[in-house]
Amino acid sequence: MKMNKLKLLAFVVLGSLQLANAQKAPQLGKASVDEVIQAMTPEEKVELLVGPGMPGYAGLVPLEGEPDVRVLGQAGGNEEVKRLGIPKTVFADGPAGLRIQPKRQNNPNTYYATAFPVGTALASSWNTDLIEEVGKAMGEEVKEYGVDVLLAPALNIHRNPLNGRNFEYYSEDPLVSGKIASAYIKGIQSHDVGTSVKHFAANNQETNRLSVNAHISERAMREIYLRGFEIAIKEANPWTVMTAYNKIEGTYASANEDLLIKVLRDEWGYKGMVMTDWFGGYPGFAAINEKGSVSDVIAQMEAGNDLLMPGTKAQKEALLKAIKEGKVDEAAIDRNLRHILNYILKTPTVENYKYSDNPDLKAHAEVTRNAATEGMVLLKNEEKTLPYTNKSGTVALFGNTSYDFIAGGTGSGDVNEAYTVSLLEGLKNAGYSIDQDLEKTYVPFVKAATEKEMKRRAAEGLLAAVQRIPEMPLAKEMVTEKAASSEVAVITIGRNAGEQHDRKINNDFYLGQDEIKMINTVSDAFHAEGKKVIVILNIGGVIETASWKDKVDAVLLAWQPGQEGGNSVADVISGVKNPSGKLTMTFPMDYNNEPSAANFPGVPANDPKEVFYKEGIYVGYRYFNTFNVKPSYEFGFGESYTTFEYSDIAFSSNNFKDEIKVSVKVTNTGNVAGKEVVQVYVSAPSKMLDKPSEELRAFGKTKLLQPGKSQKLTFTLKAKDLASFVDAKSAWIAEKGTYTVKIGASSLDIKTAENFNLANDITVEKVNNTFDLDVDMETLKN
Ligand code: BGC
Repeated sequence: MKMNKLKLLAFVVLGSLQLANAQKAPQLGKASVDEVIQAMTPEEKVELLVGPGMPGYAGLVPLEGEPDVRVLGQAGGNEEVKRLGIPKTVFADGPAGLRIQPKRQNNPNTYYATAFPVGTALASSWNTDLIEEVGKAMGEEVKEYGVDVLLAPALNIHRNPLNGRNFEYYSEDPLVSGKIASAYIKGIQSHDVGTSVKHFAANNQETNRLSVNAHISERAMREIYLRGFEIAIKEANPWTVMTAYNKIEGTYASANEDLLIKVLRDEWGYKGMVMTDWFGGYPGFAAINEKGSVSDVIAQMEAGNDLLMPGTKAQKEALLKAIKEGKVDEAAIDRNLRHILNYILKTPTVENYKYSDNPDLKAHAEVTRNAATEGMVLLKNEEKTLPYTNKSGTVALFGNTSYDFIAGGTGSGDVNEAYTVSLLEGLKNAGYSIDQDLEKTYVPFVKAATEKEMKRRAAEGLLAAVQRIPEMPLAKEMVTEKAASSEVAVITIGRNAGEQHDRKINNDFYLGQDEIKMINTVSDAFHAEGKKVIVILNIGGVIETASWKDKVDAVLLAWQPGQEGGNSVADVISGVKNPSGKLTMTFPMDYNNEPSAANFPGVPANDPKEVFYKEGIYVGYRYFNTFNVKPSYEFGFGESYTTFEYSDIAFSSNNFKDEIKVSVKVTNTGNVAGKEVVQVYVSAPSKMLDKPSEELRAFGKTKLLQPGKSQKLTFTLKAKDLASFVDAKSAWIAEKGTYTVKIGASSLDIKTAENFNLANDITVEKVNNTFDLDVDMETLKN
């Protein structure tokens, strides 16, 4: 009897083991994605749809109680579901290069990444091949440090110069933004790692970024704020998209069906994965530990925001409850899971890629050094002050930032690089001798002031804004002495900014009194000796230049040029490199000339809840040119050490059919080799609709042209390049009539122009009716 019982037990155990084996849960990569989804419990679905928080983000080791992570300093990633063979994958910032913790506890190795030039600097090169090379270098670091997705590129429009994150973004123009982003994505994804275009969409300010409600006409959305994303998504197919924090017409971008379903999926055909920005959709970071709002989570899921990042317990609880109670559309949940799983299937993690933790940082230092020089914009160069080749006399180096050069901005756009070459070091490396008294006073001054500022920030918590260190006071007699003993003066003006704060008008957009005093004192003294003054702008976004530029001889906009900054600037100062960058944004005469000045960052002024984009489509040069407002430096502007001539403009036909090809010959008519950025603007007929006087529709850059050499550049204009968005018809329409193609060296420096004709209106594209204004708002008309 006993024996029989045992036998029976053995039989049952064996049988159920066999059964379990036969019914073994489907494994991702072996079973189909749909089979995996079907096998998921509600709890497992939630695990995948809501990220695991940010373990390992801040320290040398994960904090107590946090799970282990593969890459310290990662911003997040998806949660694993072991039973179904779904691994964790890793996301890390950001736009200027990979942002991870450079050190780990009990580990002698370092994990530094290359700090590449910031977004404005890269874009100012207008060189998509170069950007793709930079992307490839970044992509190698992403892959070799075990990361699956770089949380970049960032391509929100420079609506207003005060946006604290403009340095991460590319331009006031959507074509430039879209093309630069495409090249960047292609470069990174060539390594089979992913990107995340962000912040989709209309994240154009940092003040109250988590909740501010943006009111934007559909036309401005389509033509300005979405167009760059559209180009990048259609041309480069980023693996993921990150939604913006802000609301658009009352709905969070991350819960906005117009944005995520009608536009992104239906119209653009996007198949990748959509994730929120970090804690996006909550009223504020304060809510992280509070109960998540169930309706937010449901709305986000149903609107097609596949993954909630970095994920909170409250979100998980809310979503689980909604799923169990049937309060969230099941089909939407499964659709989102499908996007997430399809993304995971592409990752190096799923391939079990053996990353080296040893990317080629040396080679990438060369990439960034070179890329930075191409994005530098020579704003002024009286009497060929630059290149400055005299290495026998001394250079008097002024300005705190000369000694503590800014490689890039702060926040998630920052990179933990191994070093930053200051201008002092860069000039020395290039063989210049620098005035030693100045060095001896500036270096300790800057060090002490920086330490004080760091303490202030630490004491006030991370949220304390970075503040510029006041310039070291300069005694007039000392400067007069230096003017006599040195050959030239170089002054650096520095600015930094980053997430969570917009920049200030005074003492940031406008120079501070200390800086004006420095420029005046140095210029007076050096000019009295017949010596030149060169200003280097080590900044991430636009500053005021009109009031002081006449006082100096040369102005080089170096941007925040990455870790090789000082060497890159020295390459340009010495003439090893001829600067060929041009502005991708307008430098106004005055802040109040900005079309958005009266409506930024929104109302009420002390705590903006609503922001009205009353300037409509007239952003940047579209406004300045159309309304004849003179800028200090216009969109597209940049000088060179050589000169170029434009000739032989030719069309494939003077009557537009499906497309038209435009070519132009560019000749280097100066004495040194150089590259030229060529800009193609189109003025369209405007009977049906008011339009900007001209809009950038194509651009290109010559190769390095030796003196006397020419290159023919050819551009293709398609119907969409002629079209404007007609709200009343929900359509992109190219209006019949005469079009003028203006080819220029800047938006105001048109070198050659020619007309063509379009016989009949073309409806290029019919789209969904979206983004209905939820308020009465008049927008600017021409
Ligand atoms: C930023 C994103 C970033 C994310 C993760 C957010 O605060 O807005 O750009 O990718 O944090 O660090």
